[in-house]
Amino acid sequence: MTTLTINGKSHDVDVPDDMPLLWVLRDIVGLTGTKFGCGIAQCGACTVHLDGAAVRSCVLPVAAVAGKKITTIEAVGETPAGRKVQAAWTALDVVQCGYCQSGQVMSAASLLATNPHPNDADIDAAMSGNICRCGTYNRIRAAIKHAAQEA
Ligand code: FES
Ligand code: FES
Repeated sequence: MTTLTINGKSHDVDVPDDMPLLWVLRDIVGLTGTKFGCGIAQCGACTVHLDGAAVRSCVLPVAAVAGKKITTIEAVGETPAGRKVQAAWTALDVVQCGYCQSGQVMSAASLLATNPHPNDADIDAAMSGNICRCGTYNRIRAAIKHAAQEA
């Protein structure tokens, strides 16, 4: 049994220690906003926050995250940076198909929480691991800058 703290709530999960956090979130806890894209830490669709830092949940064994604070897309809007990012995403109509976007929002919120006024290089460094097949990159960059102005 592993005890996880997800979005401020405690969850006891009876799963193998090496089960990736992504599958625990989606299949055991029922939080399906976090997406599966590649399964090998290459696309960013599965991004969540671990103690505030953006991490790839598809390659994170659940045993490694016990006792840490996990935040998913379902609750990131309750953080100041997440709230600003989500508002900017809506204001600038960032989303196309949406599949990559929970991961994009999580990476952007983690960036703004630690660097409230990122420059282009900061944005590139924080967002380069999040792939979007619909090519929303320009609007993502604009929305991060928009959110930063609200800081
Ligand atoms: S599903 Fe985790 S990085 Fe692609
Ligand atoms: S919005 Fe479709 S993959 Fe990014």
